[in-house]
Amino acid sequence: MRARMKLRLTMLLIACACLALTSCQNVGKEEEKTSLRIGISLYRGDDTFITNLCNLLEEKAKEYEREYGIKVTLDIQDAKGSQNTQNSQVERFISLNCDVLCINLVDRMDASVIIDRAMTAGVPVVFFNRQPVEEDMNRWDQLYYVGVDAKESAVLQGEMVVDFYKKHPEAIDRNGDGMVSYVMLEGETSHQDSLIRTEWSVQTLKDGGVPVEKITGGIANWERSQGSALMEQWLLEYPDTIELVISNNDDMALGAIDALERAHVTGVNVVGIDGTTQGLEALANGSLLGTVSANKEVYAGAIVALAASCALGEAPPAKYPLMDAKYYWASQEILANNIEENQ
Ligand code: GAL
Repeated sequence: MRARMKLRLTMLLIACACLALTSCQNVGKEEEKTSLRIGISLYRGDDTFITNLCNLLEEKAKEYEREYGIKVTLDIQDAKGSQNTQNSQVERFISLNCDVLCINLVDRMDASVIIDRAMTAGVPVVFFNRQPVEEDMNRWDQLYYVGVDAKESAVLQGEMVVDFYKKHPEAIDRNGDGMVSYVMLEGETSHQDSLIRTEWSVQTLKDGGVPVEKITGGIANWERSQGSALMEQWLLEYPDTIELVISNNDDMALGAIDALERAHVTGVNVVGIDGTTQGLEALANGSLLGTVSANKEVYAGAIVALAASCALGEAPPAKYPLMDAKYYWASQEILANNIEENQ
């Protein structure tokens, strides 16, 4: 009697174990994702650099689909410069069951609402281009950032001018007074890139032995039209004085070039940062002396690959090594005109 009960009990246990095993496998099969939905919110859809990057995000998502056989749907929204709008977009992404969010913050100091929401819903976030403050980034291990190092952009911009000056001082110090007189076009005040780029481009010029003198500078919020308006004003205020325009980005540099063209002023050297499509055109036609270009293929590739890996619960992609398990820094290079050809 006891032996029979023992046998029954053993058979029951085996049956339960088999059942548990098959149901585990079923769960595994259900969870194996064949599609991903990525919610992307841009701080402003009319920003040239962001538009360039966004086009590449779409390309990289398609490449990912082809390579891994996982369908990737990008839901791209423009926050039009409003943090409240962006917060509502995040709310909507979560209600639509997005697997991961890629956020180009409107206000980099104000990420808390988005982080709270993402943490409650368990949806990882890859921030890009506008870096949240460290305190926010440290709130959860599912928060990442992809960008370029602001100091590196500035140092490369400065080195480019140092190099030109060493080879052809007369092409930079055009009036030959032993001083390079420059104006500075700055991006948004609250942006991590503006302050650092402004400081380090000039510091690099000084460290490289270029005698510099600042005529004036102003904030043009990354925008071509604002850069153009400031430059127009400076050309009137300081006629025949400006030798170099240092711009925190290509769009404002292009604005300065627009103003120079309108005023029929030639010979002023203009340098930018970004390597946007429009910036590269100006480089090709010689109106822009040089730019510092982020490797945007890698930049966008890192955002998509990182987003996909955290959505799938995988380890971060080995191709894009993270610093402090959170930050990926895209590489940058100098793209410059040959100064001899412009003379
Ligand atoms: C900078 C870029 C600017 C602008 C800005 C927006 O890194 O150089 O052109 O796009 O980001 O956050």
